[in-house]
Amino acid sequence: MGEVILTMKGIDKSFPGVRALDKVDLEVRKGEVLALMGENGAGKSTLMKVLTGIYTRDAGTITYEGREVTYNNPREAQADGIVIVHQELNMMGHLTVAQNIFIGREFRKGPFIDDAKMNEEAAKLFARLNIDIDPKETMSKLTVGMQQMCEIAKAISHEAKVIIFDEPSAALTDAEIDRLFEIIRSLRKQQMAIVYISHRMDEIKRITDRVSVMRDGAYVGTLITEECTKDDIINMMVGRVIYEDPKTESQVSPGAPVVLKVDHLNAGRMVRDVSFELKKGEILGFAGLMGAGRTETLRAVFGADPKESGDIYLNGNKINIKTPQDAVKAGIGYLSEDRKRYGVVLQKTITENSTLACLDEYVKGIFIDGKKERKITKKYVEALKTKTPGIDQLVMNLSGGNQQKVVVAKWLVNNCDILIFDEPTRGIDVGAKQEIYELMNKLVKEEGKSIIMISSEMTEILRMSDRIVVMCEGRKTGELDIAGVTQEKIMQLATMRD
Ligand SMILES: Nc1ncnc2c1ncn2[C@@H]1O[C@H](COP(=O)(O)OP(=O)(O)O)[C@@H](O)[C@H]1O
Ligand SMILES: [Mg+2]
Repeated sequence: MGEVILTMKGIDKSFPGVRALDKVDLEVRKGEVLALMGENGAGKSTLMKVLTGIYTRDAGTITYEGREVTYNNPREAQADGIVIVHQELNMMGHLTVAQNIFIGREFRKGPFIDDAKMNEEAAKLFARLNIDIDPKETMSKLTVGMQQMCEIAKAISHEAKVIIFDEPSAALTDAEIDRLFEIIRSLRKQQMAIVYISHRMDEIKRITDRVSVMRDGAYVGTLITEECTKDDIINMMVGRVIYEDPKTESQVSPGAPVVLKVDHLNAGRMVRDVSFELKKGEILGFAGLMGAGRTETLRAVFGADPKESGDIYLNGNKINIKTPQDAVKAGIGYLSEDRKRYGVVLQKTITENSTLACLDEYVKGIFIDGKKERKITKKYVEALKTKTPGIDQLVMNLSGGNQQKVVVAKWLVNNCDILIFDEPTRGIDVGAKQEIYELMNKLVKEEGKSIIMISSEMTEILRMSDRIVVMCEGRKTGELDIAGVTQEKIMQLATMRD
């Protein structure tokens, strides 16, 4: 095994309300590919961003080639030989491939940028990496996978000693992944240290030497890839103690009718042949890792994105949902993951927000029926226990949990019987979380609603769902009844590629 080139010790990093990293240790060796694994939100990207100076750490030390280092920005890290290929693409669409690769370090001829020289150098780089891309092509004309390959080529073009790949394969085709792995193998041969973040088990087995696992912002441990099984890794990823009571059996009555049926739905790369049923009074959990296609699936059901094929049945009748308006008319509400952008209008009052989705009903002639509007808003503020001094409060002044309740009220006012909750408690503190859970239980038990809940939090999935649909890369990989389900079982399905 190669000598240690990089050691991170006791790294802490907090964002407002989130402890993203909690005394994390990591050791990277020369000439190895180290897998960094963990569920969504485990802290992998944050750790790498702390390393490369994108984020400032709150505590801890980084030792690189025997000396303690702190980088204030990615350029400093790069100059020292540490480069990162990000999960998100960072290319300039209007520039050429070569211009992107040499951005900030352009070749010059006197005062002028020497495009010919840059094209020549980029062509040499691609030839070395055996990548077939024209350096003169405009970046935006390339597929996402090709753009990602340019990003990788750019990282390699620096004289790097440590290269970090943050979930690079999500955007790549199988052929491109093969290409990437050949490149990684040759980098390893040149004694470079490579950190490879991915949740695809088959890739971990194919390309990595060791696996370090993180969970909930903490370092769990490291295994030698050859000596461990997929289950060993999964156990480390999910081995947390569940403090809150998980549901032990479905609360849905055995004869409950199917209210929503989705049949062979296709919508782009992220929704491939997805079928499922939702029963009356059920909370159906959608579990999966990043890029599983859960939001995309439910957005297509809701009419927010176009469908290619597939049928949707409401109470047994086939319906045609082309737009969100069609969905709302059919009684389907969507509480989006990004409340601030889609769910509520922060600059309006609770009353205005509550009746937003169904203004028609409250418009008398050309005047809004203020009395009716206020009455119904009051009813839901009370029913949902929204904490506010009054119904004329601006939504921006409410806490995250209470904003969420205003969104729920909006759909209830609109008589929606099917509610899609997309990451309902993201960015909400523990106390408010509890209230959202109680609210969801109340909606299914007392109001006869049915709920689809997309969640990346394992504890939330286990605690709330009657049944669980698991997706991976645009496909449904399993469906589990809550009785007898385990975190390991869910994670196996979530990392199963076919
Ligand atoms: N810029 C940020 N502001 C606030 N919270 C953040 C930020 N970046 C990450 N987080 C939070 O830190 C935690 C770890 O996130 P991340 O490092 O992206 O996880 P991973 O890459 O393992 O999926 C998550 O709870 C995430 O919501
Ligand atoms: Mg990440």
